[in-house]
Amino acid sequence: MNSAAKPLSASRPGAPLAGTLQVPGDKSISHRALMFGALALGETRIAGLLEGEDVLRTAAAMRALGAEITQGPAGWTVIGRGVGGLREPEDVLDMGNSGTAARLLAGILASSPGFAVMTGDASLRRRPMRRVTEPLSACGARFESRSGGRLPLAIHGAPDALPLDYRLPVASAQVKSAILLCGLNAPGITRVIEPAATRDHSENMLRHFGAEVAVAIEGAGRVITLRGQPELMAADVAVPGDPSSAAFPIVAALLVPGSALRLEGIGLNPLRTGLFTCLREMGADITVMNERLEGGEPVGDLLVRHGTLRGIDVPAERAPSMIDEFPILAVAASFAQGTTRMRGLHELRVKESDRLAATAAMLAANGVRLEIDGDDLLVHGTGRPAAGGGLVETHMDHRLAMSAMVLGLGADQKVRIDDASFIDTSFPGFVALMNGLAGNGGGSPLAA
Ligand code: S3P
Repeated sequence: MNSAAKPLSASRPGAPLAGTLQVPGDKSISHRALMFGALALGETRIAGLLEGEDVLRTAAAMRALGAEITQGPAGWTVIGRGVGGLREPEDVLDMGNSGTAARLLAGILASSPGFAVMTGDASLRRRPMRRVTEPLSACGARFESRSGGRLPLAIHGAPDALPLDYRLPVASAQVKSAILLCGLNAPGITRVIEPAATRDHSENMLRHFGAEVAVAIEGAGRVITLRGQPELMAADVAVPGDPSSAAFPIVAALLVPGSALRLEGIGLNPLRTGLFTCLREMGADITVMNERLEGGEPVGDLLVRHGTLRGIDVPAERAPSMIDEFPILAVAASFAQGTTRMRGLHELRVKESDRLAATAAMLAANGVRLEIDGDDLLVHGTGRPAAGGGLVETHMDHRLAMSAMVLGLGADQKVRIDDASFIDTSFPGFVALMNGLAGNGGGSPLAA
C-alpha cells in the first residue's frame, strides 16, 4: 500500500438502493473528443466530458502539444491545431494510469514530426506498449522504450509518415485507434483489419469531424479504411454516460434486495453492451427506455430492479463488447444460482492490473468458489449472498476497487479494499453517489 492509499469498506445498506441517477461521461469517448478536437481546425465544445484523472491527463497532453483547452460552466472547449499542426512538447508527457491515453497518443505522435517522451504511473509502466509501437514503426516513426516495450517511451515522429496497413493480432480498440490516428497525418489510405469488432468510437468520431472512413464486415471482424490528411473540422460532442461506470450501480441494484434504479443517458453502443446482454441472460430485470441517438452514439435510460440471477456461459466472442466489465460480472455471478463460465479472458491479464488474477483473488477472499481454467474464469454461485469479510488488494485498478465495493453492498460481511484512490480515474463521486442511493435509511454503506 502506498502512503496516499485510501482504504474503504462496503457493507450491506440498511435500505434498498433507490432513485434516479446519471453516471459520469464515457471515458473512451472523452479521451477521443479531446484528441480529435485538438486535431481539428476551430473550436470544439464538449458537453458531459468525464472529469476523471485519466481524461485530465489527455487534456494536459493535448495542451502540451499546442491545443487550447479550457473548462467553462457549459462544458469544455478545445481550439484545435489541425491535422499536422501539433507542436513538439517541451516536457515529458505523463499519462498517469491511462492505457487509452498512452496508446492513442502514441498513434498521434508517430506521425507528428518531433521528439516526445511519454511515461505513466507504476501500473501503466508495467503495461505492454509494443502492441502499438511495432505497427506504428512502419510509418517511419522511431520508438525507444524500457525492456519489454514498456514506458517510459521516447518517440521520434516520422517527418513524412507513410500510411499503414495492419491486421490486428488481438482485438483491441486502443491499437486500432492508434493506427487510425497515425493515418490522419499520412497521405493515402490507412487500413486496419480487426479479428473481432471492438468499440468503434474512433470511427464514429472521425466521421463526425469530417474524415472519410469506410467500414466493411469481414467474418466476426471489420476492415476499416481511412483517407489520410483530411481537413478535420471542429464539431461539438455530447458525451453519453459511461456504460462501464453504469455497470456498478446496476449490479449493486441487482444484489441488494428491494432495489430499483433508473439510470439516465447511458451510452448503448452495441460494441459496449455485452454486460447488459449477460445480465439479462442471467435473469436480471433491466429495461431500456427512451432510446435515442446523441452525437452519433445510441443512448438510453435504464430501469433496473433487484431479482434472483442464474449462472450462464459467456462466449469468448462477446468479450470485446464487455472487456472492462468482467470483474463486476464476476461479482454478479457470485450471487447467482449455479456456475457462470466466462470464456476467452486472456486480454484481462494486461489491463490496469492482471484483472483475471485480481478478480479471482477478490472473490476467493470473500468466500466465493471459483476456478481459472486456461483463459476462462468459472464462478460457482450458490444463489445466496457471498460471505464477504475479506480485504481486497486493488493493484491500482479502479474497476477492481468498485467491483469489490459492490460485492460488499450485497455480502453478509463487510468487504474492505486497500485503496480507493484510483476510483477517480474513471468515476469521480462514486462513493457519494452510492451512499446517496441508499438514502437516509441506508446509512453510509461505503465508509473509510
Ligand atoms: C478502450 C479499449 C479497451 C478498454 C479500455 C478503453 C478504448 O482496451 O479496455 O478501457 O477506449 O479504446 P483494449 O483496446 O486494450 O481492448
